Amino acid sequence: MTIHPLITEITGPDLAVAWAPLVLLLGDPHPEEWEDIAAAAPARQQEFVAGRLLARTLGETLGLPPAPLRRAEDRSPVWPSDRTGSLSHCDTLCAAAVGKRSAIQSVGVDVETIGRVESKLWPTLFTEREADYLSSLAPEAIGVEATLFFSAKESFYKCQYPLTQEWVGFQDVEVARTDKALLTVAPTNGAAQAWHAAPIHAVEMSESHVATVMLLPA
Ligand SMILES: CC(C)(COP(=O)(O)OP(=O)(O)OC[C@H]1O[C@@H](n2cnc3c(N)ncnc32)[C@H](O)[C@@H]1OP(=O)(O)O)[C@@H](O)C(=O)NCCC(=O)NCCS
Repeated sequence: MTIHPLITEITGPDLAVAWAPLVLLLGDPHPEEWEDIAAAAPARQQEFVAGRLLARTLGETLGLPPAPLRRAEDRSPVWPSDRTGSLSHCDTLCAAAVGKRSAIQSVGVDVETIGRVESKLWPTLFTEREADYLSSLAPEAIGVEATLFFSAKESFYKCQYPLTQEWVGFQDVEVARTDKALLTVAPTNGAAQAWHAAPIHAVEMSESHVATVMLLPA
């Protein structure tokens, strides 16, 4: 299986993050995983299985034994007790992060196709301050940055959910850029909590895709 490491500055013996093309992530899921997706449409089954195969491979690279990654009633992944992680898929790619529970409290990963966050969606997805910042950019930079800001909110959501079990809306948090590779997230109402504190790592994977990862160490 050809997998591509992602954001290597945060990975190591306790955390693996990588992506792979969906078409290469073929194989048999664990029977219990298949139970969770057997009734879905074929395309959905493919991305679900791809995420599980990638997560299993990353677990092996960390020395973790194979174990089924079930889906909860609320559709969130139920990680085995020795690990935590996060999955994302888009049109052609799948990304995953897997960390040892002893070292990683939570992680969120998201991969997106550049250009899908059109300006007509901005009032839903972005606060006024975020939209003002995006509008101030050079026209050729806007598509990538808007996609990264959207992706950052998805990574944040996936990272905080295992800790809070809470829904968070797009207007509830605000993303800002701190440097070339990092974004931050802050609540738009109320005090920042521990799960807002970590930076969000942002990367342009290619001309067509971006990814973000939020990591909360244990
Ligand atoms: C759950 C959600 C974040 C998934 O994002 P997406 O871009 O639609 O899809 P992705 O492919 O990137 O991610 C899907 C994976 O997220 C994971 N996921 C689903 N619900 C989750 C949750 N509550 N917490 C953490 N991970 C979750 C699953 O592993 C899923 O893949 P699988 O079903 O194959 O296992 C999104 O559908 C959602 O419900 N968002 C809530 C609102 C929101 O986005 N708020 C952002 C403002 S902070």
